[in-house]
Amino acid sequence: MPAPPLSTDLTLDAIRRHLRTRTVGQTLELLDETSSTNTVALTLAHAGASDGTVVLADHQTAGRGRLGRAWHSPRGSNLYCSIVLRRDIEPEHLANWLSWVPLTAGMAAARAMTCISDLRPMLKWPNDILMGSRKVGGVLCEGAGLQKRHPCVVVGIGMNVNVEANSFPDEFREHATSLAAEAGRQFNRAELLATLLRELETVWEELSAQSGAERVRGYSRVCATLGRTVEVQLLGNASVRGRAIAIGLDGSLHVRQDATGEGAGHIEPVIVRAGDVVHVR
Ligand code: BTN
Repeated sequence: MPAPPLSTDLTLDAIRRHLRTRTVGQTLELLDETSSTNTVALTLAHAGASDGTVVLADHQTAGRGRLGRAWHSPRGSNLYCSIVLRRDIEPEHLANWLSWVPLTAGMAAARAMTCISDLRPMLKWPNDILMGSRKVGGVLCEGAGLQKRHPCVVVGIGMNVNVEANSFPDEFREHATSLAAEAGRQFNRAELLATLLRELETVWEELSAQSGAERVRGYSRVCATLGRTVEVQLLGNASVRGRAIAIGLDGSLHVRQDATGEGAGHIEPVIVRAGDVVHVR
């Protein structure tokens, strides 16, 4: 049986009409349905796909989120895309570059949403895209060959665009929203995708050119986590609770732990490089 047609707003023609990039998205594979665009992009990357190759799907049957979570991926209403990113990086700068790629992808996604909607999403560290306290998008980066001088990363981005707020399954409903639910109107996904790809190209050019301090300033401006009381589930079983006070030059989150008693004011902040953050207050 032939596959059902893609929804009319997400076609290659429509995307190309809006696309204003030099590299990102110039090679683009649009799928009606797949398990996960990250899985497809990882396969393409291992087979040598060029920098900026994009895999996009109208529907994912096994969309993946961070920390082993599922990503709700219904047909015909949202954006699910993965970008192959290749760079020539000196080995001593690799770790820093790898930690900034996901943060800058989140910034690009938030900027793209603002460009087409006038909404002002913010980021929960590291890269959850929030409207208020609800998630409107997320980023999942996976390595596709990091041992060499030419690292390759697949950057997966999911955006809840036109999905109705009350159609989220129970496990997502309380914490998720969509652009349409926030703005009270629908959005053209081809235009949003083209805007996202342009913003990604821009942030990744900036990433090569900026100083560490400039990166921190840029990210801090859109980071909703700074200044908040947070509970961070670290990898493993440990957790940290305290106030998020700064972003480090390596993109880490600095948390001043809640503590009482003598010497409490002198405790060094905990430097979080990976974990799951909850905004408590
Ligand atoms: C998160 O916030 O947990 C990350 C969500 C990332 C979802 C996107 S949708 C496109 C790409 N393919 C996937 O399977 N996941 C990412």
